[in-house]
Amino acid sequence: MVLQLIAADLKKEKMEALIIPVCEDKDIHDNQAISALIKLTRKIKEFRGRPDDELILHNLPDVGSKRVIFMGLGKLAKVDREALRVLAGRAVKKCIQKDISEVMIAVPSSKKIKLEMLSILEPMLEGACLGNHRFDKYKKEKKHTPLKTIRLLVKPDIMETFKKLPSRMMSICDGTILARDWVSMPPNDKTPEQLAQSIVSLFRKRNIDVRVLEEKELKQKKFGSILTVAAGSQSKPRMVIGVYNPDGAKQTVALVGKGVTFDSGGINLKSTASLEDMKMDMSGAAAVAATLIAVAKLKPKIKVVGIIPIVENMPSGNAARPGDIIKSYDGKTVEIGNTDAEGRLILIDGMSYAIRKYNPQTLIDLATLTGSCVVALGEKIAGIFSFDDELAEAIVQSGVKTHERCWRMPLPEDYKETLKSDFADIKNISSSRWGGAITAALFLSEFVGDTRWAHIDMAGPAYLKKENAYCGPGGTGFGVRLLCDLLEKL
Ligand code: BES
Ligand code: ZN
Ligand code: ZN
Repeated sequence: MVLQLIAADLKKEKMEALIIPVCEDKDIHDNQAISALIKLTRKIKEFRGRPDDELILHNLPDVGSKRVIFMGLGKLAKVDREALRVLAGRAVKKCIQKDISEVMIAVPSSKKIKLEMLSILEPMLEGACLGNHRFDKYKKEKKHTPLKTIRLLVKPDIMETFKKLPSRMMSICDGTILARDWVSMPPNDKTPEQLAQSIVSLFRKRNIDVRVLEEKELKQKKFGSILTVAAGSQSKPRMVIGVYNPDGAKQTVALVGKGVTFDSGGINLKSTASLEDMKMDMSGAAAVAATLIAVAKLKPKIKVVGIIPIVENMPSGNAARPGDIIKSYDGKTVEIGNTDAEGRLILIDGMSYAIRKYNPQTLIDLATLTGSCVVALGEKIAGIFSFDDELAEAIVQSGVKTHERCWRMPLPEDYKETLKSDFADIKNISSSRWGGAITAALFLSEFVGDTRWAHIDMAGPAYLKKENAYCGPGGTGFGVRLLCDLLEKL
């Protein structure tokens, strides 16, 4: 796909469609030809520029493009980065529906909508790029043919200032799309061996240092916790480690992602309804792997280590039992209270390894960890857990920017009591029914020592049942854009 900024003459530029965003209460453009077209629409009663309003006019005089699609943006006061992202996504989807292969979208004036030009262009490029993607690998008849060319119409001086922006946004959005595809992939085609292989081959292409620990090495190195979760599955566990290490890097960030390719619950088998979509339980792993690949293109001056434990959680004669006591990589013994609390088990081994081997300044784990977090925050907002105010706030702010919304949750010391085991050092479930997202995070916190750490529980926003403006049904790629933003400001 070609994604570019263009400063064109409306009359001369012969695109299949020109999109003009229109506000209800104000003309937001500073291009006379566009303002004249908007004036024309003011006579048409049914189009008022409300959020879902749309008007298509064909063969307008003085316009080279075949059709002009006016799209409502609502009231000016409500126009923010996300409104622009949604608009661009809607625009692209509209054109795809119409079997068009190219589009030009008019960019509003920075002065008139009181946003910096960068804060207009970034989300518009994102919405357009992400809205162009659909996971249809398994469909013979592809109903969604992506656009070949997407252009944003701007003034000539803006084109010069932001000439590097489209390719930068493409690198980030390609990461999001990669994560989406991994998450949407059915679990029979992404066993731990297969998913690890897929990640490794992309890492190699990007010159990311990569290492894979297979079952034999995991055993030798005593990753007891990962091995326990994998025990019930025919597929063998993997741990993929990718390192992006640029010259002159002054600090190291380690990212650990939960990679459960299918979470059946194990011996504590989930109910039918809860089993649905449990292929998405490797969304943390997908986000970490895709971020590393995006980072290798963006080239920030910071060392980034991606640690990706990958397992399948299945019941069988070899599966771990409730009551089993195992030894984690870090040496602590863990009593298995529930085999469905498997995410925290593979994470602690990944996190302990990250700390021991790389001694990072910052450690962030991403995981679809608990249903409780979805109960607390709903399906669109992730929970952030950290003892470090600055890190938690930085994550929340990156999420505001990318609209991957995060809400900080507490880590109360006294709740740790609920994780006590009569027989082992700690238990993998809480004795209380309540506050499950918090107690899961507290369990992880027992394995981070003094390392500055944050945990992102993305069980809600990792997956989408019904498409929205710039994401189809399936994996959302949550976390990739957020981490790309965060890594550049740490
Ligand atoms: N993968 C699930 C969490 C999950 C739930 C992700 C819903 C996405 C949507 C996790 O492994 C799990 O099963 N958690 C249990 C923990 C419980 C047994 C302590 C849960 O949240 O119910
Ligand atoms: Zn589970
Ligand atoms: Zn799980």
